[in-house]
Amino acid sequence: MKINILTLFPAMFEGFKGESIIKRAIEAGHLEINVVDIREYCFDKHKQADDMPFGGGAGMVMKPEPLFKALKDIDTDGKIIYTSPQGRRLEQKLAVELSKEMEITIIAGHYEGIDERVVGAFVDMEISIGDYVLTGGELPAMVIADAVARLIPGVIKKESYEQDSFYNGLLDYPHYTRPASYEGMNVPQVLLSGHHKNIDSWRKKQSLKRTYIRRPDLLENRELTKEEKKLLEEIKREIDFS
Ligand SMILES: C[S@@+](CC[C@H](N)C(=O)[O-])C[C@H]1O[C@@H](n2cnc3c(N)ncnc32)[C@H](O)[C@@H]1O
Repeated sequence: MKINILTLFPAMFEGFKGESIIKRAIEAGHLEINVVDIREYCFDKHKQADDMPFGGGAGMVMKPEPLFKALKDIDTDGKIIYTSPQGRRLEQKLAVELSKEMEITIIAGHYEGIDERVVGAFVDMEISIGDYVLTGGELPAMVIADAVARLIPGVIKKESYEQDSFYNGLLDYPHYTRPASYEGMNVPQVLLSGHHKNIDSWRKKQSLKRTYIRRPDLLENRELTKEEKKLLEEIKREIDFS
């Protein structure tokens, strides 16, 4: 998959591309991240990418010409995304949808945002990473790229992301590693038992319990299996009793 990222601050992406799973995904050829410096498309003397807003008011607006030129140069058939606090909220379901694309392009806004004509002419989707406002779209672009990249086949094990929170509508179960006992705190016995069926059912119950306690809204939108319904009744009884 190819991810084009249009930004005024390309250096911010060096660490992102050069570390950990994203680095390995690039090296293995699963992922290409093409960071495009919008300033390369500013052809005036001062390479100015922003200007004052028509109608007055605080803040600057990213000019249309550099973005039009950059997007025409990229000439993509893939989805063009603008990072915006006004967009569709990024959730795992959307990350899964985007991970099936061959190419996506993400525009990182800055200042008050980009000239609305860029949105009208090119943008297929605006994506928000949450109800708060950041100084720029660089971190949201990384968040989107990261959430999508780890779902590309081959980047991480399928069993690993399928068990993650939200993938199947539940939160993940708790994890433990060695040592089995640390500062008087012990790992639940069942995880040391080697009994895979019992371990699976403990994990399923923990996953449901965490979801019920921390994010009950997720359960409202999910069709529970017979086994899950039974486990949930058990969990509710345990909570009432304690
Ligand atoms: C200071 S913000 C502009 C906010 C804009 N004036 C508004 O209120 O909708 C600058 C840029 O940061 C990015 N940005 C800020 N918060 C974001 C969020 N929650 N999700 C996605 N992008 C965000 C966008 O690209 C935006 O154009």
